[in-house]
Amino acid sequence: MKKQRETEQQESVIAPQEGKPVAKKRARKKMVRRILLGALCFLLVAGGGIGWGMWSSRYPDRINMGTACNMGDMKDMNMSDMGSMCQTGNRSASSGSGTPIDTLQAPQTAAHIDTFTLTAQPAHLSFGSGNASDAWTFNGTSPGPTLHVRQGDLVIVHLVNHLSFGVTIHWHGITVPNIADGVAGVTQDAVKPGQTYTYRFLAKDAGTYWYHSHQESFEQTGHGLYGMVIVDPVMLTVHDDVDTALALHIWNSIPTLNGAMGAVHVSAQPGQWVRLRLVNTDNYPYHLTLVGTPFLVAALDGHDLNGPTPLTAVPLSIDGGQRYDLRFRMPESGPVALLIAKDGDQEYAKTPAVLVGQGQFVSSALPSLSQNEFNLATYGQPRTDPITLQSHFDATYSISLGFTIGFSNGRPGPVFTLNGKTFPDSPEIVVKPGQLIRLHFENNADSGIHPMHLHGHTFTVLTKNGRALTDSPVHLDTISIRPHESYDVAFYADNPGLWMLHCHNLYHANHGMDMMIVYPNISTPYTIGNASGNFPD
Ligand code: C2O
Ligand code: CU
Repeated sequence: MKKQRETEQQESVIAPQEGKPVAKKRARKKMVRRILLGALCFLLVAGGGIGWGMWSSRYPDRINMGTACNMGDMKDMNMSDMGSMCQTGNRSASSGSGTPIDTLQAPQTAAHIDTFTLTAQPAHLSFGSGNASDAWTFNGTSPGPTLHVRQGDLVIVHLVNHLSFGVTIHWHGITVPNIADGVAGVTQDAVKPGQTYTYRFLAKDAGTYWYHSHQESFEQTGHGLYGMVIVDPVMLTVHDDVDTALALHIWNSIPTLNGAMGAVHVSAQPGQWVRLRLVNTDNYPYHLTLVGTPFLVAALDGHDLNGPTPLTAVPLSIDGGQRYDLRFRMPESGPVALLIAKDGDQEYAKTPAVLVGQGQFVSSALPSLSQNEFNLATYGQPRTDPITLQSHFDATYSISLGFTIGFSNGRPGPVFTLNGKTFPDSPEIVVKPGQLIRLHFENNADSGIHPMHLHGHTFTVLTKNGRALTDSPVHLDTISIRPHESYDVAFYADNPGLWMLHCHNLYHANHGMDMMIVYPNISTPYTIGNASGNFPD
């Protein structure tokens, strides 16, 4: 600064001998210099701020999710919003003498055992109409094989990793024992290239589920590491002649069903009952509907609805991680078409995503997207349910979903928050076995659509926007909270472990929107962070 002022003085000493244009020029120079200096100061301050934000938002090298605290941890304990026992992230892997996570496992044997091998491997996929992409797959296809098992069976899955980076498998919606949950850094280390890992769980509930990697899940699921699981009921309640599993996934920015860009053809004869099981494996929200015949929403997230009533071309919203089981009786007249639209689109895509039965689909018959959407709060018939709004809740927690521009894990950009915080500083809920826990979700900001997914448990939906559900009970593992919506849900704490609760827009999860629901006194040897290379999202 001093030097500069001296220069200026010298200049002004020389000035009188120069003409007016020169003085003007000099003034301009001075101005430019000031602006540059200002810009430099701004950049320094902004750069410092960004640098600090990046630095301070970085994950610690080791984040241990165990809840078996030793006194050392208690000292720097910092009660989180939710009354956590230990501060998330500051627990050390060696701490505590609680229940080791690997004791939370399935029985060794059962009357029926279903065994599968899923090999994570690269593949070059073609989607039709000249579209292709390199992908990461299970067994060379994406979706990977659909695993059909019977309710009550012991399911054993050997994961073999032939990719060049670590992977896991999470069993989305299935209430697996904690050690089989597939969350890198919480229930296992990511399975390294060349290694194998075995998952074991009982298929307790019938229904439509899916699986996907939970190591860098945003990237790995997006690149194809997912598939579906169908658990057939022991006691058939309805009979389906045709039963098809369909995974919705974006490839090359075009939505595909089972990896096909054109219509998927399903054959069915008039009079036959058809069940379509749909999962949205994407982060994008979609609308879909069936045309050609009225249809029933038989199940949500794999759980049957009571007394489903026929809908005619009603738009259904399906967000990340959610599943719909749709049923209809194949009509005599022409095919039944599944139409899809990305959220925000004004109309359905002209090419149906699925065509069931024979005949041509007439696209002039595209129904309107603007009619009232399917509402899970007022569908089907009432039935008694173990959990109702009148139940006694042992604890109620409020979780507000938000959005801001900031930093997450060292990156500047959009940040998705839970009670204003991002993982691993997000709130942690401690539940005790046997408790009935109520969660209140609200999305007050225009912060997008947040399909919140709870691992290891199925919850009952109690209210939508403050009003009790009126008709069929609804049991889910993923509840989508749209802007300015709120929901109350409740679940029995009946599956001890360390469980994630996160947004299944995996981009949001990758940018902060994760928290933990944990049982006390459980220890895990695994850690999230650079030291282990485990990054569940
Ligand atoms: Cu389907 Cu934690 O995810
Ligand atoms: Cu979200």
